[in-house]
Amino acid sequence: MKRIVVVGTQWGDEGKGKITDFLAQKADVVVRYQGGNNAGHTVVFDGKKHSLHLLPSGILNPKIQNVMANGMVINPKAFVEEIDKIESFNLMISERAHIVLPYHLELDKAYEHFKGNEKIGTTHKGIGPAYTDKAARLGLRVSTFIREDRFKTKLAELIKVKNQELRKLGAPRIDFEDLYNEYIVYAKRMAPYVGDTSLYLNQAIEADKNILFEGAQGVLLCLDHGTYPYVTSSSPTASSVPLNTGIAPWLVDGAIGVTKAYTTRVGEGPMPSEILGDLADHIRKVGNEFGTTTGRPRRIGWLDTVVLRHTKRTSGLSYLAVTLLDVLSGIDELKIAISYDLNGKEIDYIPAEIEDFMACKPNYITMPGWKEDITQVKSFDDLPVAAQNYMNKLNELVGVPLAIFSVGPDRNQTILVKEIF
Ligand code: IMP
Repeated sequence: MKRIVVVGTQWGDEGKGKITDFLAQKADVVVRYQGGNNAGHTVVFDGKKHSLHLLPSGILNPKIQNVMANGMVINPKAFVEEIDKIESFNLMISERAHIVLPYHLELDKAYEHFKGNEKIGTTHKGIGPAYTDKAARLGLRVSTFIREDRFKTKLAELIKVKNQELRKLGAPRIDFEDLYNEYIVYAKRMAPYVGDTSLYLNQAIEADKNILFEGAQGVLLCLDHGTYPYVTSSSPTASSVPLNTGIAPWLVDGAIGVTKAYTTRVGEGPMPSEILGDLADHIRKVGNEFGTTTGRPRRIGWLDTVVLRHTKRTSGLSYLAVTLLDVLSGIDELKIAISYDLNGKEIDYIPAEIEDFMACKPNYITMPGWKEDITQVKSFDDLPVAAQNYMNKLNELVGVPLAIFSVGPDRNQTILVKEIF
């Protein structure tokens, strides 16, 4: 495959950054296609840890052309903070991407407050309100943002509407002059990287380049196919790549679905296979399951294959990459959810109605665990038999072959089972 999408198969935080970083060794181009700085992952490069939220995972490798495509929403302040930490890089930003402004962050907080007990638990990065403005034709695109006069005129119009909204919600108003004076500086920093990324990507495809499309969040957080309303505001599916990058659907060769060997979720909303108590605390501690963007403790659950089959159907998955397998070492018995019980009926899908999804009780199979430390294994055959059986069962239940698994945070703890790039 020459053009591969890296898809999060669960509720985000599956280790996509690590898999992208691993596959990027063979990539010419790495593309972020949706979301904004609500995402987050750590890339270790030359012994230094880098936290990335907005920039594509290939940004630390000067041989890679990185692209922030039209489907993204970009916070210019966060952008400048991130690029300032990196010495040299190759980056192109779509002129059709949308800008996240301070009033989006205020609106995000205000909507969450308004929702009270039904809050989504967003990252408060203004992502939802920025996409809302895009759909309402009240957005600011990168192309306008980097043109000084047009930015000023457009911002003056937009801020009137936004301040009315903020006032109604009891949120602080934003001062036009302050905002303009601060953001025009960011616009000038962003301008040299801006271009027509669809044109560029189509040329790269014609030149037969290896391209990695890096999803943020996971399919269960997809605005259309996720657990609405407890979702983000974009689509992390492989099927959103053509629209969000400006290439033809048939030019995407396949998708690698990244899944944890268990499940996590951060933020509110149902998670049928959730585990509470000591075992959850143990997995959270061993797996360091705390959000990269917000620091929130992640909720922990057993592996849920109804979720993975849903992702396979709605996004498309050619291969699986299983991460954090080492975290399960030392647990006597491992459960895998194979279907749900909904009001006495066995189902193998995710109900659209959130009340129904909340009522779903998982049906589990139980597999024996393994005691051995597996952080040094170099091949599938090195794994204890119980770990091999667990992985084989996972592949069988999802019906997607395994290409990669990982047993620790380092790049050399990532094991390639099948060459895909
Ligand atoms: P938003 O994307 O900030 O609007 O948040 C909507 C939901 O998506 C919340 O449940 C967040 O916790 C979740 N979310 C957003 N980005 C990520 C991510 O990168 N990893 C995991 N959850 C995320």
